[in-house]
Amino acid sequence: MSQFACKLYTPKYLLSFLIILFVVPTGCVQGQLGQNNSGQYKNGMVVCAYPDAAQVGIDILKKGGNAVDAAVAVQFALAVTLPEAGNIGGGGFMVYRSKKGKTNTLDFREKGPGSANANMYLDSAGNVVPDMNLYTHKASGVPGSVAGMVEAHKKYGKLKWADLVQPAINLARNGFKVTKHLASDLNWASAQFIKLNPGKNYLLKEGGWKEGDILVQEDLAKTLEQIRDKGRDGFYDGPVADMIVAEMKQGDGIITKQDLKDYHAVWRKAIIGEYKNYKIITMPPPSSGGIALLQLLKSVEQFPLKRYGHNQDSTIRLMVEAERRVYADRSKYLGDPDFYKVPVDILLRPEYITSRMKSFSWDTATLSTSIQPGSFVGYESDQTTHYSIVDREGNAVSITTTLNDTFGSKIFVQGAGFLLNNEMDDFSSKPGVPNMYGLIGGKANSIQPGKRMLSSMTPTIVEKDGQLFMVVGTPGGSTIITSVFQTILNVIEFDQNMQQAVSAKRFHSQWLPDEVTIERDGVDSATVSKLQSKGYKIVTRNGIGRVDAILKTQWGYYEGGADPRGDDTAMGW
Ligand code: GLY
Repeated sequence: MSQFACKLYTPKYLLSFLIILFVVPTGCVQGQLGQNNSGQYKNGMVVCAYPDAAQVGIDILKKGGNAVDAAVAVQFALAVTLPEAGNIGGGGFMVYRSKKGKTNTLDFREKGPGSANANMYLDSAGNVVPDMNLYTHKASGVPGSVAGMVEAHKKYGKLKWADLVQPAINLARNGFKVTKHLASDLNWASAQFIKLNPGKNYLLKEGGWKEGDILVQEDLAKTLEQIRDKGRDGFYDGPVADMIVAEMKQGDGIITKQDLKDYHAVWRKAIIGEYKNYKIITMPPPSSGGIALLQLLKSVEQFPLKRYGHNQDSTIRLMVEAERRVYADRSKYLGDPDFYKVPVDILLRPEYITSRMKSFSWDTATLSTSIQPGSFVGYESDQTTHYSIVDREGNAVSITTTLNDTFGSKIFVQGAGFLLNNEMDDFSSKPGVPNMYGLIGGKANSIQPGKRMLSSMTPTIVEKDGQLFMVVGTPGGSTIITSVFQTILNVIEFDQNMQQAVSAKRFHSQWLPDEVTIERDGVDSATVSKLQSKGYKIVTRNGIGRVDAILKTQWGYYEGGADPRGDDTAMGW
C-alpha cells in the first residue's frame, strides 16, 4: 500500500475526504433530493410574485418541463393569482439563456392599435384629455402576452401546451387563497372597478376581501380553456377575440379584430455588455432598461465601489450621477426600433459612457438641468411583475410582464373575465406634456399604429466565466432599471447573497425630477446629511421594486432571492 493510501485510510484523513466529497459542495444534504441546508437547490428554481404561481412553476419543472415550460405555466398562473400585474391582457419581455449559453429575447410588448395616432389623446385645443390614456377603453395597446407564450413554447417548450395552461385554469375555476396584500389591493381598487365596469361583477366581494378568502374566476377559466385548446387562436380569434372587440365597441375603444390578428411577438437579439468579468445579457429596445443598465454598469465600473461601501454616500453619489446621465439619454433616444432608429451602438460605446461621466464632481451634485435640458422622465407604475426560472439542465428564463398601472386600465373584458392593460400611457401623448407618472418623451416614443411603447422592463441574465451566474428582474416602472442595477452590484461588489441583495434597501434617481429617492430607513441619517450637504435633494418612500432573482453558487446550487416587499416566493427542488 502506498504512503498516500495509508494516510488516506487513517480516520482523520478519511473524515477530511468525506467532508470534501459531500459536505463542501452540497452543504449538509437534507432529506429532499437536491436541497441543501442553506435553502439552495440543485435541480431548478422558480421565483415569482405569488406563492400559488411559484408552486405551479416548480411542479412543471418536477414533471420534466424546462424553464420555458415553467415560464408559460407561471405566466398563466399569475394572470389568475396576481390580477394587479400578472396578465393575459398585457405584454412583456423574455430574456433566455440556454444551458449551452445561447441567448435570445422575446418581445411580446403591446402595440398601438391600427387606428392609433399621435393626437388621439388631445382635445380640439390640442391639450391632453386627463386620464384618457389611462382609464378608458382607448388606453389599451393590443395585448401581447398570449402570443408571447405561444411563441416561446413553440421555439423552446418541451411539455404539451395544454398541460402548461391547465394549472391556471384549475386556479381560476377552483379558486385560490387571497393573501393580505392581494386583499388590500382588491379592496383599494373596488370603487374603480365598479365605476369603470357598470354591470360587471369581477374581483368584487361584498364587505370587502380579507386574507384567506377564496377567489374564483369562472369567466377567466373559460377564456384560459380557449387558450389551452386553440393556442394563439384561442385569444386572437374566435369567441375571446369577439368579446374583446365587443368590449371595445361598447366602450368606444379602438382595438379591432384585424389588430388582434396582426399581433405577433418578435424574437430580438439580446444586447450583451460586460461589467468586469461578468457578461450581462439583457433586453434590447423597445425596452429602455437593457441599454440603461449596461450604461449604468459601465459608468461606475472604474470606481472602487466595494471600498466606498454598500449604501454609503460615495456609492450613492456615484450611482445617482450615472443615473442622471443615463435617464437623460433614455428620454431622447429610446423607442420602438421597428419605427425609430435607436442609436444602440453609440449609447453603449465605452468612450461615450465615460465621457458622460466627465462632468461628475465629488465637490457638488451636478444639477440635472445642466446635464441635458428638455425631456423629462418621471415615475411609472409599480405594477408590473417579474419572474426568474432555472431548470434542471441549467436553461434560464427572465421574464417581466405588465398591465402598466395596478390592474391596468381596471376595465374587464365582459364575459372573458380578464383586465385590459393601459400601456398606451407609456407612449408620449404629446411632446413636452408629462403623463400620469411625469413622463415626457418626443419623436422616438410618439404614438403610431402598430408601434410598441417604450418600456423600462429589464429582464436580465448574468454570466460569469461562461457559466450562468444570475437571473434577475423586477417591476417598478422607471425604478426597474436602478433596482436591477443595485441588485447586481449588491452581489458582485458588496458580496451579498441573493436574498440579501434582493432584500437590501434601495435608492433611485432618474435625472428629473432632480432628487434622490431612498426607501424608508434605507440609509442612515449621517449619510443623508452628507448627501444633502453636497446638494442632493433626498425624498423617502416605501418599497422600491420587487426583485425576484436566482443566483447560481460556485457549487452549482441555485439560491433564490424573493422580494420581502410583496408575496414573492422562491421555490426550488
Ligand atoms: N409599464 C411599465 C413599463 O413597461 O416600463
